[in-house]
Amino acid sequence: MTSKETLVSTFAEVVLDDEVRNTIGRDLRSFPNPVDDIDRSLAMLRVTFSKLPIDQLQTILDFGRHVDTPGVALVRNLPVDPELPETPIDGEPSKDKKTFVAETVLLGLSQLLGEPVGFTTEKSGRLVHDVVPVSAGARSQTNQSSHVFLNFHNDIVHDEVGRYDVSNPDFLVLNCVRQDGNKEAVTYYADGRDISAALDPEVLDVLRRPLFRLNAPGSYVRDVANGADVLSDLVPVISGPAESPEVAVSANGVVGETVEAEQALEELQRVCREVAHQVKLEPGTALLINNRKGLHARSQFFARHNGRDRWLQRTYIRRSLWTIRYRGVAGDRRVH
Ligand SMILES: [Fe+2]
Repeated sequence: MTSKETLVSTFAEVVLDDEVRNTIGRDLRSFPNPVDDIDRSLAMLRVTFSKLPIDQLQTILDFGRHVDTPGVALVRNLPVDPELPETPIDGEPSKDKKTFVAETVLLGLSQLLGEPVGFTTEKSGRLVHDVVPVSAGARSQTNQSSHVFLNFHNDIVHDEVGRYDVSNPDFLVLNCVRQDGNKEAVTYYADGRDISAALDPEVLDVLRRPLFRLNAPGSYVRDVANGADVLSDLVPVISGPAESPEVAVSANGVVGETVEAEQALEELQRVCREVAHQVKLEPGTALLINNRKGLHARSQFFARHNGRDRWLQRTYIRRSLWTIRYRGVAGDRRVH
């Protein structure tokens, strides 16, 4: 791990001991597909995850609720499925998965942070996203990519209000189902506090001005807008109090209004690489990501598209569903 010195720690690690892993794993091996009756499943998972030692449970709960806690946390030695089918090649859920340990670990951790939420424009509104390299998107700045460095960004959603950084998830959780064969994929997280401390004050000032338009996610541009950019209103990239900044950068490109603004964006990407924490996700590890406190990125990695590729499962989480009720979808309480 590398990190510039800041007043607070921006990285946390929780390692389950084998006994706790086995106890939780026993509950999860017989679990039905949790998304079939999601609210009942989440109630049951609350009981299962209450078996975490109190210190670890509090670390995760504090990660979700407090301003001054880390922006990223790695949870290790989690239960895994006894048997795994091939990695899906299309980004859709596997039809051959017999147990739901990965899905229930993902949702069990997610609900300690808030409410799992789906968006119609991301993975068809599903609550559990399968993130795998898809050959058609290998060079895109989307979750389908592999052959390119996926730049520092946070996950945003297109919104007709003109802001994409409002109804987006507060957190993401990534649970690793299968590591890439060469074990080269690295996930990065740059915390807004570390970024702000490392930036030249003049550049920070530019990033704090409303000089930027975020582009809608690649999936939205591709599926809804026929490939045309769909830019947001003018927003700052960094906002809020100096000691607890929020950062918003769309993966699919940000357009600066001025030359200075464009240069500040480049400098931001450079500084992110400098201050980022980095982890290699492997089966049994999950990454809790605060989607407001900082930005994440991913290295390139080799994909074969042969059923043995890297496979993550991901959730989007809101602390509350109340503030996004204006975009709720009739008939499904969690889809927006
Ligand atoms: Fe992302």
